[in-house]
Amino acid sequence: MELVKTGIDGLDEMLGGGIPKGSTVLVLGSYGAGKTTMGIHFAFSGLKGGEKVAYFSLEERKDSIIAASKQYGMDLQPFLDNGLTLMNPGAGEFVEMLRMKENFKTSIEGFNVSRVIIDSVSIMLMAADNDVLRRNVVLNLSDSLKDLNVTTLMIAEAEVGSPYSTKEGLSEFVADGVISLQNIYNDSNGSVVSAARILKMRLTNHDRKGRPYTIGSDGIQIMANSDLYLE
Ligand SMILES: Nc1ncnc2c1ncn2[C@@H]1O[C@H](COP(=O)(O)OP(=O)(O)OP(=O)(O)O)[C@@H](O)[C@H]1O
Ligand SMILES: [Mg+2]
Repeated sequence: MELVKTGIDGLDEMLGGGIPKGSTVLVLGSYGAGKTTMGIHFAFSGLKGGEKVAYFSLEERKDSIIAASKQYGMDLQPFLDNGLTLMNPGAGEFVEMLRMKENFKTSIEGFNVSRVIIDSVSIMLMAADNDVLRRNVVLNLSDSLKDLNVTTLMIAEAEVGSPYSTKEGLSEFVADGVISLQNIYNDSNGSVVSAARILKMRLTNHDRKGRPYTIGSDGIQIMANSDLYLE
C-alpha cells in the first residue's frame, strides 16, 4: 500500500509512515489549533515531491495562505500555477458546484492533482441551508474525491470543549481517517498544551495516544514519542 507523507515528521511517525493513498482525512480542531498550518505542510510536502496539489481556501485569502507558508519556511509562492492550484471559492459558490457531483470533478480533473485540501468544510456547510443539502454536498464531495483517487485533507472546526467531533457532525462519517488538533487550556494557571491525536485511520495500525505539539517558525512539530503532560 502506498503511503502519502503529511510533511509533519511526528505525524508520519504516528501514522506508521503516512496516510494511505486515496484516503480522505478529516483534520478537526478549534480555532487557532493549527489546521491551516497542517494544510500548508501537506501541500508543500506534495509539491516538493513533484506532485500537483489543489488547495480550496474558503476562509483565508490566497495571499494570507502564501504569507503563512513563507513564515513557516514552506514558501508556496513559486508553486502557484506551477503545481499548486490555490482557489478562493465563496462558500455559496462551492456548495452550488457540489450540488452536482460531476461539476466538482470536472473543475479539478484537468489539473491532475494527487492531493487536495478543503479549508474548511465547516465554512462550506454554513452556506447550505438545510440538512438534506448539507448531507448531499458532503456525500458528493467525498464521492468525487474517491473517483479522482486523490488524497485529501478535509479541514473542519470543532467546538472548544468538544474536540472529537465537527460542529456539523457530518464529515466524520465519510472520512477514512480523523486527526484531532486540540489546545487544552488550564485557566487556573494560564497554561496551554496542544495535543494531536489520530482518532481513526483505515488500513493503518496507528498510534492511538494524544501527543504534544508546538507551532513555531518551522510550522507544526509533533513529539511522537512524548506523553502529554497537562500542567
Ligand atoms: N511563527 C509562529 N510561531 C508560533 N506560533 C505560531 C506562528 N505562526 C502561527 N502560530 C500559531 O498558529 C496559530 C494559527 O494556526 P492556524 O491558522 O493553522 O490555525 P487554524 O486551526 O487553521 O485556525 P482557524 O480555525 O482560525 O482557521 C496561531 O493562532 C498561533 O498560535
Ligand atoms: Mg485555518
